[in-house]
Amino acid sequence: MAYKPEVLSQCAPDLIYCSSQIPVEATCLNVRQNIVSLVMTYEQEYRQSIEAPENFWTDKARALPWYRFPETPLRQDENGIFLWFSDGEMNTAYMALDHHIEQGRGEQLALIYDSPVSNTRQKYTYLELRALVATFAGVLKSKGVEKGDRVVIYMPMIPQAVIAMLAVARLGAVHSVVFGGFAPNELAVRIDDAKPKVVVFASCGIEVSRIIEYKPLVDRALSLSSHKPGSCIVYQREQLRVALESERDSDWDELMEKATPAACVAVKGSDPLYILYTSGTTGKPKGVVRENGGHAVALKYSMQAVYNMQPGDVFWAASDVGWVVGHSYIVYGPLLHGCTTVVYEGKPVRTPDAGAFWRMVEEYQIRALFAAPTAFRAIRKEDPEGEKILNYDLSSLQTLFMAGERLDPPTYQWAREKAGVPVVDHWWQTETGWAICANLMGIEPKPAKPGSSTVPVPGFNVQVLNETGEPVRAGMQGVIALKLPLPPGCLPSIWGDFERFRAGYLAQFPGYYCSGDGGYIDEDGYVFIMGRTDDVINVAGHRLSTGEMEEVLASHPAVAECSVIAVKDSVKGQVPVGLVLLKDGIEIDEDRLQTQLVSLVRQSIGPIACFQRAIVVSRLPKTRSGKILRKLLRQIADNQSVSVPSTIDDPASVAEIEAIMQAKGLVG
Ligand code: COA
Ligand code: AMP
Repeated sequence: MAYKPEVLSQCAPDLIYCSSQIPVEATCLNVRQNIVSLVMTYEQEYRQSIEAPENFWTDKARALPWYRFPETPLRQDENGIFLWFSDGEMNTAYMALDHHIEQGRGEQLALIYDSPVSNTRQKYTYLELRALVATFAGVLKSKGVEKGDRVVIYMPMIPQAVIAMLAVARLGAVHSVVFGGFAPNELAVRIDDAKPKVVVFASCGIEVSRIIEYKPLVDRALSLSSHKPGSCIVYQREQLRVALESERDSDWDELMEKATPAACVAVKGSDPLYILYTSGTTGKPKGVVRENGGHAVALKYSMQAVYNMQPGDVFWAASDVGWVVGHSYIVYGPLLHGCTTVVYEGKPVRTPDAGAFWRMVEEYQIRALFAAPTAFRAIRKEDPEGEKILNYDLSSLQTLFMAGERLDPPTYQWAREKAGVPVVDHWWQTETGWAICANLMGIEPKPAKPGSSTVPVPGFNVQVLNETGEPVRAGMQGVIALKLPLPPGCLPSIWGDFERFRAGYLAQFPGYYCSGDGGYIDEDGYVFIMGRTDDVINVAGHRLSTGEMEEVLASHPAVAECSVIAVKDSVKGQVPVGLVLLKDGIEIDEDRLQTQLVSLVRQSIGPIACFQRAIVVSRLPKTRSGKILRKLLRQIADNQSVSVPSTIDDPASVAEIEAIMQAKGLVG
C-alpha cells in the first residue's frame, strides 16, 4: 500500500529527539571508532576481553551512536546481577535506522522480503523502512504505548513483523514476539506474563500447503488469558482478510494512513528492549529479558568479529523473527551494522524445491547465510548430490553459518563440499542472544573441526565443570558453564522472576552461569557441545520442553504417568516421543490414544512441537521415591551405555523399556 507523502517526509533526521526533547544531534556521541582488531590474533583479542572486560567492551561500545556515552561500563545491582552500560542513553531503533540515514545510507537497501509462499518480493531502503517504523510507532503511541510498556507481536515472516518490532523499540517500549507455530494456549501464557498494552497480529500465516488463520488463534488466546490488552492491531494480508472485532481490533493500514510519525525515545542502556520466551524444564516458558545497551554493543561487535560483515553487505539469517536468531540476526544485528537484511517467508525445501536457498544467494548477492543444520539436512535429503546448486552463481557467498542445534559432521562435510565455502558451526542460546563459541571469521579464522563450534567468542569465559563444580581436564566431558560476568547482550534476568533466574542459572555453580548444555574442550581449546543435560530437547533447531509436553499428555483421562523423550531424526535432529502408562482398568486402542495425544499436543503447544508418536508401556523406570529416571531413558534412546542408579525401584523395568524402544525403532 502507499502512504501519504507527508508521512514519509515527516521522517527527516532532525525529527529524532531524546525523551527530554533535546535534539539528538546535540547530545549524541556520534563516535565512529569501529576499531575491530583486524591486526589482533584471536588469542590476543580473547585474552583482553577476559582480563579487562570493562575496557574491552567500552572500546566496542564506541562503534555505536549513543545519545549519552556510558560512563560506568559494568555494575552490579542490588541482587548482584551484572548490568552493562546502565548509565548510557540510547535508542536501539535510532542506532539501527536513523543513524545510518544520517551517515548517508538512506538510499541503501535495509530489508529484502522474499516470500515464495505468497509469490511476493519487496525491497525497502533505510529511508523507507525508517518512515514505516516511525509511522507505526506513531500508531502504537496513539494506542497509549509508552516507554516500558509491552507489546506482543504474533506475526509470520513479513516485513510488518520487523516494522512492529522496531517501532516498539523506537518508543522505548518492550516487544515480545510469539512464534506463529505456537498454539493459543502458549500465546495466552505469554500474554499473561508480559501483560502487553497492545497485541499486533497478522490475519494469516502461510505454510507450504495451507493458510493459517491467526485471528481465531488470537481470539482463543485472549479468551484463555487473564490479562486483556487494551487493543489489537491487525495487519490484513491479501491472502486472507478477516472481520475485525469492533471494540478491540484496528486495521493496520487504516491506522498508518492517519498516524503521525513518532520520534525516538531515549532509554537507559539497561532498560529492556524485548522479552523472548523460551522453553525451560517446566511447563511455564521463561521470559528472557534483553537490555538495549549490551545487546546493541554485542550484536554490532559480532557482525564484524563473528560474521565478518561490512556495512552494505547482504546478510541472511534463514530463521523466523519468533526465535532468538531472528531477533538478533534478521532484525537487530544486520541493521545495527548498516547491512541489508533478508526476510524469507518459505522453507529450505518445497518452496518450490531444494534450490531455494541457493536461488536466494544468487538473486540478492548474499554474503553470509545463517541457518539451522536441519535446513541443510532437508536440502541434502532432496538433493544429495547438490545438483540444484549448479544452477546458481554462489560467488557472493563468503560463509555459511549454522546454529540452533548440533551440526553433525556428515551435514558439515556435505555443506562444506557442495557450497564450497567455509561452514561455521556456532553455539548459542536464547539467553545469551549471540554466539558463545564460534570460528571468528572477522578476527582470525581457525581450521574447522567437524563436531566442534570452535572456540569461545571474546567475552565468554567457557569452562567445563564436573558435578561438584571443579573444572575438568581437556577432553573430559562435563557441564558447560560460563564464568561471570557474562559479556554484554546476555540476559540479566527472567521477566518478573529474578528467583527463577537465580535458581535456574546461577545457583548450581556459584560464580558461573550454567548453560544446561554438556560437552568438552579439547587440547587445542576447541569446544564440543554434545547436548542438553536437562529436559530440553531440540527439534528442527527449535527448543522445546519435554516437561511441558508431559503436562499435556498427563491431562488425558487415560494416562496415569508419562515421560517424553527425544529420539533421533534424520532431518529434524530430534523428535519427541511419549512413553505413557495407562491408568488401571483403562482399555484403549493404542493408535486411537496416539491420535488423541498428538492432537492434544498440537492444540496446547502447537504444530511446531512435531509430536507424532506415543507408545504405551507397562512400567517406567523410577527411583524408590517415585521419580521417573529420565536421564536413563535419554541414554537408551541415544544408544549410550546405560548407567542404572542404585536408587532404582525396579531394575527389571530397564530391560523391558529397552526392548520396547528397540522394537519400535526408537533407539538411535
Ligand atoms: N506458523 C504456523 N505453523 C507453523 C509455522 C508457523 N510459523 N512454522 C511451522 N509450522 C508448522 C508446520 O506447518 C508443520 O505443521 P504440520 O505438522 O501440520 O505439517 C509443523 O509446524 C512443523 O513445522 P516444521 O518443523 O517447519 O516442519 P516441516 O515439515 O514443515 O519442515 C523443515 C521441515 C526441515 C523444512 C523445517 O523444519 C525447517 O525449515 N527447519 C529449519 C528450522 C530453522 O530454521 N530453525 C531456526 C532456528 S535457528
Ligand atoms: P535456543 O535457546 O532455542 O537457541 O536453543 C539453545 C540450545 O540449542 C542450546 O542450549 C543447545 O542445546 C542448542 N544449540 C544451539 N546451537 C548449537 C550448536 N551450534 N551446537 C550444539 N547445540 C546447539
